[in-house]
Amino acid sequence: MNHFELQNGVLHAENVALPDIADAVGTPVYVYSRATLERHAQVFREALSALDNPHLAFAVKANPNLAVLKVLAKQGYGADVVSGGEMDRALAAGMAPEDIVFSGVGKTAEEIVAALKAGIGQFNIESEEEGRELAILADTFSYRANAVLRINPDVDAGTHGKISTGKADNKFGVGIHRAPDIYGRLAALPGLNMRGVALHIGSQLTSLEPLETAFRKVGDLIAELREDGHIITHVDLGGGLGVKYRADDNPPDPAAYGQMVARVTAGWNVRLMFEPGRVIAGNAGVLLTRVIRVKPGAGNIPFAIVDAAMNDLARPALYDAWHDFEAVEPTGQKMAANIVGPVCETGDTFAMGRDIDSVGANDLAIFRTAGAYGATMASTYNSRGLVPEVLVDGDKFAIVAERIAPATILAAEHVPDWLE
Ligand code: LLP
Repeated sequence: MNHFELQNGVLHAENVALPDIADAVGTPVYVYSRATLERHAQVFREALSALDNPHLAFAVKANPNLAVLKVLAKQGYGADVVSGGEMDRALAAGMAPEDIVFSGVGKTAEEIVAALKAGIGQFNIESEEEGRELAILADTFSYRANAVLRINPDVDAGTHGKISTGKADNKFGVGIHRAPDIYGRLAALPGLNMRGVALHIGSQLTSLEPLETAFRKVGDLIAELREDGHIITHVDLGGGLGVKYRADDNPPDPAAYGQMVARVTAGWNVRLMFEPGRVIAGNAGVLLTRVIRVKPGAGNIPFAIVDAAMNDLARPALYDAWHDFEAVEPTGQKMAANIVGPVCETGDTFAMGRDIDSVGANDLAIFRTAGAYGATMASTYNSRGLVPEVLVDGDKFAIVAERIAPATILAAEHVPDWLE
């Protein structure tokens, strides 16, 4: 459920008419709904209510906007971060350091030290090499870092290849068969408090089956580690739950996920941790865009050229992702069109030959389900500005990330003296 609906023939975000935002901020612009974020945060928490005190860490990478993080912090969410930059954002949003989990396959020594000093709650170690480095750094600065070992269960998540993370040939974690030995060696290091394991097998998962398979493997691993004498108190089950991008998508709902988790983890006797991203933020945001013009295309299918492009919303170009496209003031008429942006490459295509609401020059439209992995993946390609973000709350809205104009970006570049 989300709060982007028609009211009197005009698409609204909660009670704000999208044309009002376009007038005030210009387009393209990301628009988030606070009520939707809160609802999703609550639904996910509810889904896990059979568990004893689960730890909820929003995957900041999905939507790192400071105001969005603030909304989730107020919902009692911590954060899953993968860089010093994400950590700083989570802290700036008021998340408690102990509620922050530091994941990521390439943490630098600098990031590790900053996280130790900030008092981050847990490091999810992705290799023996990283674990050893963390141990040395922690010991040097007299810390004992809480850590879990991320394992790679070699399970096919059945999602797009570029967002699958739990296959043996993916770069993430340590192979599950090597895990007991590595865990044993890391647990012996003075700077570490090894307390469990983590996994995350991929994103936009549309079936619970691979998750269940992976969790069962983790259950066996926990038993083995305990037999080896280790004290396992925390297991981080990652994120990955898919969302509905198009009408016939049928992702598992959070309640079904929660039931599966409760069933599979019964008797594990650990604190379970979760890193949901997309399921919280995906349908809580849209990308509002304006049609620049419509030009004829092959086979009588025109190109609707919108002012948003692949630099603003990269998912279609990167993963052939589908985002529903709707007119902000639909007339009821439909047309077949290719939806493209202004960037000078064919990859800047949002949809080919799609049946959409009829639109013409200057009409406003939205791409739905753009609240996760949208603005955060924007770039300035083609010397376009960085897309702004707006948060709606009932009948008010605020700019929560300013548009960064091309001139601002140009001003940060310098021609050396010796070129003058
Ligand atoms: N935890 C870890 C360790 C992750 O790597 C990820 C996502 C998550 C949690 C959150 O997963 P979620 O619940 O959002 O599925 N840019 C891609 C998605 C990349 C996801 C990377 N990792 C996209 O636009 O589809």
